[in-house]
Amino acid sequence: MNNGSYYLRPNVLMEPLVDGWYAWAHLIPPATLARNVTERHLRIMESYIEAPEAHQAAVKNPAMSGGPFMDLGENRVADVEQLRVRTLRDRRCLIELSQSIETLDLTLQEKGTGYSLESLYAEVPENLQGYVELIYDLNNHPSFRLIEPLLYKSCNYDDSLQSLMFSEVTGDDRPFVLSTPRLDKGDAVQLQIPFASEQIDTLFRMKHHPAGFTFVRETLHLNEDDAHRFRSFLTTEKPQPYTKYEGEGARWRYFGHACILLETKNVSVLLDPVLSYTYETDVSRYTYENLPEVIDYVLITHNHQDHILFETLLQLRPRIRNIVVPRNGGGALQDPSLKLLLKRCGFPNVIELGEMDEIAFDGGGITAIPFLGEHGDLSVLTKSAYHLRFGKHTLLFAADSCNIAPQMYKHIHEQIGDVDALFVGMECDGAPVSWIYGPLLTQRLERSKDQSRRLAGSNYERAMAIVNELNCKEVYVYAMGQEPWLNYVMSIKYTEKSNPIIQSDRLIAACRSRGIVAERLFGEKEILLP
Ligand SMILES: [Fe+2]
Ligand SMILES: [Fe+2]
Repeated sequence: MNNGSYYLRPNVLMEPLVDGWYAWAHLIPPATLARNVTERHLRIMESYIEAPEAHQAAVKNPAMSGGPFMDLGENRVADVEQLRVRTLRDRRCLIELSQSIETLDLTLQEKGTGYSLESLYAEVPENLQGYVELIYDLNNHPSFRLIEPLLYKSCNYDDSLQSLMFSEVTGDDRPFVLSTPRLDKGDAVQLQIPFASEQIDTLFRMKHHPAGFTFVRETLHLNEDDAHRFRSFLTTEKPQPYTKYEGEGARWRYFGHACILLETKNVSVLLDPVLSYTYETDVSRYTYENLPEVIDYVLITHNHQDHILFETLLQLRPRIRNIVVPRNGGGALQDPSLKLLLKRCGFPNVIELGEMDEIAFDGGGITAIPFLGEHGDLSVLTKSAYHLRFGKHTLLFAADSCNIAPQMYKHIHEQIGDVDALFVGMECDGAPVSWIYGPLLTQRLERSKDQSRRLAGSNYERAMAIVNELNCKEVYVYAMGQEPWLNYVMSIKYTEKSNPIIQSDRLIAACRSRGIVAERLFGEKEILLP
């Protein structure tokens, strides 16, 4: 029975969790999850249990925001200890996988001296046997690649670790999620639903298509208590209908950070979906409620948690026709395949685009443009800027591309010509490489090296060189993490003295002095293109 009069409230927060931690992209592939369990989660838990006051103080200190400190409000040592014991007991398989990755890496460093690696297959730890190929680069540096499609099919991928936490959100203040497990505070309903389940689609269709409460209860298999709580997440209030863009030309709308919706009357494209829920706020914004019923293409630029966010993607899944991701390098631990990952999470149509590959649609097309830098010089190939053409308009969404080799844009210009509007991220200080990738390293990186290899986007000179090379007429600085509803994944708070603000102000001033439209986007923005 699916007739009724209840809609899902627009402020129902759904947090996807993996083993009780907020699900970001490295917590889904077995190998990166395993490393994060041992090298991030267990370490943070141990540190918290030892000195909860130090964590409580650190999360209040803006200089330490985004660091490995738990933001749990009050003292929750007993709960964290319980979680640690449970992790050590129930995650043996992942813990052993993490240890095996480390053992294999150390074995290769010691014994891969330029001679054939064939004899070392016998020394591959048992739980990795048949899942790795041992390789050298051209200078005899040994390494391994993971056969990811097989690893997902092994016992190392267990979707019973995935769950969903439902609660209501009334404001922007959410704790930073990479360092804090989601402990139940009695405010939420946690359901053991894997990310690939159609139950999620059924539920989020109720944002616009009403259903009966019995139907919800049966679909989600709610027990008495959860059903009671879930009842409060529903409303009889009909949401405002969305008005699709039907004009000539196009309309783009900025939803915050790197999320932009572009619509023509024929096609809709949504980049890096990271959305705010709908609630009373002083910072005006577009939210989940401002999206068309069908999104033809979702484009993902790269595998950082502020650009590929499962919380948003899972809620949009029933509307997404195609999701476009950058082509993967094939098996490097630090570079999991987004195509495999999204397929395992229930996205049926995932398109991988290699550099300069194109998709054509009625009246235009999408080209994947090389994206350099911002990954600490690690070999991560799953990153792409996107060039969109429709009618006479061309837009380039460069995301966090760092223009470390300006000559590349000369070559790109020869292929794509002038670009009307450039969208460029200028988070030009960036975190040290270990911030995201530290748990994957099997040997500690010296501090000075770590500090030198940053996850940094373009600064003034680098962004200006793109503007000049592509003869841009409009420049929008975006992806700066400044929207207050993104704190839980970004944890960046700039002041006027922060380098990324100084650098982007310079870019905007220099562009304007030459008659180029330039602006740093914040909150929301709408532009109509004739
Ligand atoms: Fe990034
Ligand atoms: Fe970013």
